[in-house]
Amino acid sequence: MALQLTRTLPDHLDAVGAGVFSDRLEAGEAPDGVDAGFLATQGFTGEPGQSCVVPGAGGQVVVALGLGSAAEATIATYRKAAAALARATSRQTHLVLDLLDTVPEHLDRPAVAQALAEGTVLGAYRYTALKSDPEPHHLESLAVVGKGGNRVQAALERGRAVAEAVCLARDLVNQPGGTLTPTAFATRAEDLAALRHFDIEILDKDDIDEEGLGGLLGVNRGSREEPRFIKLSWDPPGDKKPRGTVALVGKGITFDSGGLSLKPADSMIGMKGDMAGAAAVLATFSALDTVRPRVSVRGYLPLTDNMPGGDATRVGDVPRIRNGKTVEVLNTDAEGRLVLADALALASEEAPDAVIDLATLTGACMVALGMKVAGLMGNNEALMDQVRAAAEAESEPVWPLPLPADMRRQIDSEVADMKNVASARWGGALIAGVFLQEFVGEGIPWAHLDIAGPADAAEEDGETRKGGTGFGVRTLLRLLEDFRRPASD
Ligand code: BES
Ligand code: MN
Ligand code: ZN
Repeated sequence: MALQLTRTLPDHLDAVGAGVFSDRLEAGEAPDGVDAGFLATQGFTGEPGQSCVVPGAGGQVVVALGLGSAAEATIATYRKAAAALARATSRQTHLVLDLLDTVPEHLDRPAVAQALAEGTVLGAYRYTALKSDPEPHHLESLAVVGKGGNRVQAALERGRAVAEAVCLARDLVNQPGGTLTPTAFATRAEDLAALRHFDIEILDKDDIDEEGLGGLLGVNRGSREEPRFIKLSWDPPGDKKPRGTVALVGKGITFDSGGLSLKPADSMIGMKGDMAGAAAVLATFSALDTVRPRVSVRGYLPLTDNMPGGDATRVGDVPRIRNGKTVEVLNTDAEGRLVLADALALASEEAPDAVIDLATLTGACMVALGMKVAGLMGNNEALMDQVRAAAEAESEPVWPLPLPADMRRQIDSEVADMKNVASARWGGALIAGVFLQEFVGEGIPWAHLDIAGPADAAEEDGETRKGGTGFGVRTLLRLLEDFRRPASD
């Protein structure tokens, strides 16, 4: 997609998105070429996210985009407005957004420009790879009308890069588990590393065995597909000393059948997306070369599917995790925590300034917080505050959940250091967090995001389409940009 900032409306255009503040519309003001009366007949009131197509001459259209009241407009309002334009114009090729010059004073213009590029790309996203007769979006160019020099142009480019990263994560989540195997994921990651200038190391099954990643090997036993463990690494260019090192860990279960503790048929639907955490981390790396945060970033992605084959982990088996701790597996469907245990232990060995993991970990988190809010847990308030602030700035909702120390005894085991599930059903998201905490190195700030709900969308909403959402990518990129080494708790 060509992307440009222009002072005046370009000659070649198919559709212009014009911003409409609800309070101004009420006072009778409407954008050029749009009749306020017509908008009223269409029920358009200028609420955020609303759009109304106004046909014009020569096949061109003006799309009125609701922004709510000017005083209350946020960055998210503009992201949604751009997404609404993309959604309303799937057959138009050359789009124009004409709303930058009316941005209210309280908003940062470059940040708005970034959101406009993001919203357009995200709103135009479709997963068409498997359609024999795809109807892709016709979008080829976006021109943003407004004043502003290099900073605004750079912000547009950045918005595009961030959104393309989010779309990459969506693609990976939407791709079926039968083709996005751990080996296919690793090949994809390798290609991206070359293209986007980050380092990658891929451990195969023998390496994983030699490294003592018993959780990952155990989950993989029931599968004919080999596991992979991917290590990613990126350092900021230049001589300036980085502000620290952040390790990102992502659950990479390419399909979760539950293993021998097999899921019921309906619960298995959507389990191709059980690698959304790994996808978000890989996607984040794909944008680092553009976003260029002042921190070193490491990535740890344990990849396998969870299948019930002839040599699958038996209920009662006891794998040994990378840090030496043993786990009695009483439910093979609680597999995410087993592969994350290895990855958290491995990440901790490099003593990073923070470890953040993302995982589609528990149905219980969805019961607690619904489909759109991620659960945030961790061992360090300062780091959790940074994650919360980043998520809020990016409109990716997260909400804190506790890790009560006295829950630890619910996973005491008779035969091993711990078991992978509690016998009581209650507080499943917290139990999973309490389990993970056992594998984070002493004194290392750690935050855990349970994204089981928001990784997948059941309905269209703003810049989100049905299916994989790419949740977490924007939050991670923002967090890395704003990162401050957290004080230890
Ligand atoms: N991948 C699932 C969690 C999940 C459920 C993600 C629904 C997205 C949508 C995870 O591996 C799982 O099966 N968790 C179990 C844990 C239980 C066995 C303690 C669950 O939540 O039921
Ligand atoms: Mn499972
Ligand atoms: Zn799972």
